[in-house]
Amino acid sequence: MQTRGKYIVIEGHDGVGKSTQVALLREKLASSGIETTQLHEPGNTPIGNEIRTLIKNGDILRDSMTNLLLFTASRHESWLAVRKDLDRGTWVIAERNYLSSLAYQGYGEGVDLDLIMRLTKEYTDEQYMQPDVTVILSLSDEGERTKRIRDRGELTSPDTFESRNAQFQTMVKQGYLALAKKYAIPVISASQSREIIAEQIYLLFIRG
Ligand code: TMP
Repeated sequence: MQTRGKYIVIEGHDGVGKSTQVALLREKLASSGIETTQLHEPGNTPIGNEIRTLIKNGDILRDSMTNLLLFTASRHESWLAVRKDLDRGTWVIAERNYLSSLAYQGYGEGVDLDLIMRLTKEYTDEQYMQPDVTVILSLSDEGERTKRIRDRGELTSPDTFESRNAQFQTMVKQGYLALAKKYAIPVISASQSREIIAEQIYLLFIRG
């Protein structure tokens, strides 16, 4: 019988280096002969990519609840697609999951956290809600975080979340730390070198 693949989630605020770590982890697993696929929310499916473009456009005004519904729709579609990979034994390395909705829509935009959990459970499943490993990358130096985003050229257009004010960014950052505490999720400092962070993530899940 085919063993189910592991579902690993790398989370954290914009600019903490999640994409780099997803790539490094996939490389490392590939060198051990483990087949992986990548999940990046929102996106990953034709409809998800359309939702992503819509969400990222800060010129299109909408309510926080609409954001939650859009993220949930994208999540529902991408999880349906990726679940088949897991069932075939492929590992899924995800950049973001519902923790992002808790941090950004919940702590950042004030949507009720229980409502986010209920909606997410309803439109995904148990395995989505309980990844095999989750890690949060955190950068306490706010100047460094915004510099990294600016260097990517992503503060020039009005990105919906990255260009929001300092108060919003603080709520998201504190939200992630509160979630780490609530769900006992390990937090890794993103101020370290990418190689050290990669090693720390790897150690986490070979233990887990
Ligand atoms: P990114 O994945 O390229 O960082 O872009 C996604 C943006 O959307 C990012 O600013 C975080 C935000 N976001 C939420 O607000 N809620 C969510 O549930 C997700 C997945 C992302």
